[in-house]
Amino acid sequence: MKTASAPDRRPPRSWRNRRTAVLAGAAGTLVAGLVLTMPNTASAATTLGASAAEQGRYFGTAVAAYKLSDNTYSTILNREFNMVTPENEMKWDATEPSQGQFSYGSADQIVNHAQSHGMRVRGHALAWHSQQPGWVQSLSGTALRNAMINHVTQVATHYKGKIYAWDVVNEAFADGSSGARRDSNLQRTGNDWIEVAFRTARAADPGAKLCYNDYNTDDWNQAKTQAVYRMVQDFKSRGVPIDCVGFQSHLNSGSPYPSNYRTTLSSFAALGVDVQITELDIEQANSTWYRNVVTDCLAVARCNGITVWGIRDSDSWRASQNPLLFDGNGNKKAAYDAVLAALNSGSTPPPTTAAPTTAAPTTAAPTTAAPTTAAPTTAPPTTTPPGNAGCTGTVTLNQWPGGFVATVRVTAGSSALSGWTVTVSLPSGSAVTNTWNAQASGSSGSVGFTNVSYNGSVAAGQSTEFGFQGTGTGPGSVQSCTAR
Ligand code: G3I
Repeated sequence: MKTASAPDRRPPRSWRNRRTAVLAGAAGTLVAGLVLTMPNTASAATTLGASAAEQGRYFGTAVAAYKLSDNTYSTILNREFNMVTPENEMKWDATEPSQGQFSYGSADQIVNHAQSHGMRVRGHALAWHSQQPGWVQSLSGTALRNAMINHVTQVATHYKGKIYAWDVVNEAFADGSSGARRDSNLQRTGNDWIEVAFRTARAADPGAKLCYNDYNTDDWNQAKTQAVYRMVQDFKSRGVPIDCVGFQSHLNSGSPYPSNYRTTLSSFAALGVDVQITELDIEQANSTWYRNVVTDCLAVARCNGITVWGIRDSDSWRASQNPLLFDGNGNKKAAYDAVLAALNSGSTPPPTTAAPTTAAPTTAAPTTAAPTTAAPTTAPPTTTPPGNAGCTGTVTLNQWPGGFVATVRVTAGSSALSGWTVTVSLPSGSAVTNTWNAQASGSSGSVGFTNVSYNGSVAAGQSTEFGFQGTGTGPGSVQSCTAR
């Protein structure tokens, strides 16, 4: 584990160079302890990833390993995106084609590419009814349950520390009006299979955010959306370790952009989970819908970022719908311009704990087995007092027995920041083991976290995020935030 800023978490090189130039230009006028007025570079971002990062978000894409050698493909990937999701390479049929025989070659290729280009990785997907290898399809009952637990453990352990968020369970609810679980071999092992998968993933990689991911959950009024909401509500109330909900958002004339999309995102967020747009594509790349999705994500503080499901139209699983941001030749489409403009004009509201706008119906708690492992708790965010040297820090803590992940949002006051240092105080016996998007000074007691090259500049009123993982008990609040 590294205690310094992990180089694999950096944004694309082109962006780092641009930011370094901005900082170098300002260096001659820097005075420690003073807040300088910097030009608001947010409006100048020219790539999706850089612009999203200025909003404290990421912009990602699904990636196919065999396309990395395609120069047009990898040029766009490296330039535009700072999060990748292996499109098929981490699925069960790819990673465990025979029972107990794990195969990580293609997925490792994507992870290595991401790390060497400053991108983070969303893992997709540990447990899913589809794309199971033949040997899994022929299992049932306890044998299948144990195979699932072993699969989740092995794969999450192999990628431990390298995954920003895992789609732990994918598409477990039925379409239509039933609000029921989808029938599948996994579901037939018992209704608790989802929470078992989440607890298993947490034990294997406590640093990864753990997501439930599904499609047709965009419309707040749909039975499927409400059913997933009730499951997340139940998981949070019982301490099942869930950190995020992924909205695939494959939008088309049959599943149009719903006007209540923002309500859906904010209602889930109010349950105490992050929300992420995980597989966005839109039939004929409707610019208005793309813009709306971006604007809605930016309006919800816990919307971490957006992933499109492929780069060029020709890369799409629905290529005939031309649903992506680049055409088959790799040219930017009108929807690209709409997305970039929406990102550049966005704002990042402070974390919210507002109640859902519409109360979701409640259901009886499942009659499944009690949790077998201790549950993590997520503390409500705490904020440093305002007015301290130009910035504030807000901690969101995900704590479980023996460990924690802290996400810290640094917000500039009425003047722009050209650098910042956040200090936290760790209880005796606790230690920082891994840091991203900041440089840690020390690992125990009073620990300082200073911006890295690409996130020191924060426009007035805007925010950036960094995080760290540790053993023991995490900090409940930020001690100080100092602006430079
Ligand atoms: O690699 C083989 C190739 O060797 C073979 O000749 C060819 C013949 O059909 O198949 C190739 O595999 C295909 C694979 O994509 C790689 O291209 C599979 O048939 C095909 O089924 C598979 O489709 C993937 C689909 O998931 C499977 O369910 C898509 O690429 C992928 O984009 C799609 O992604 C899913 C998400 O995981 C979950 N949400 C929905 C989303 C869209 O369906």
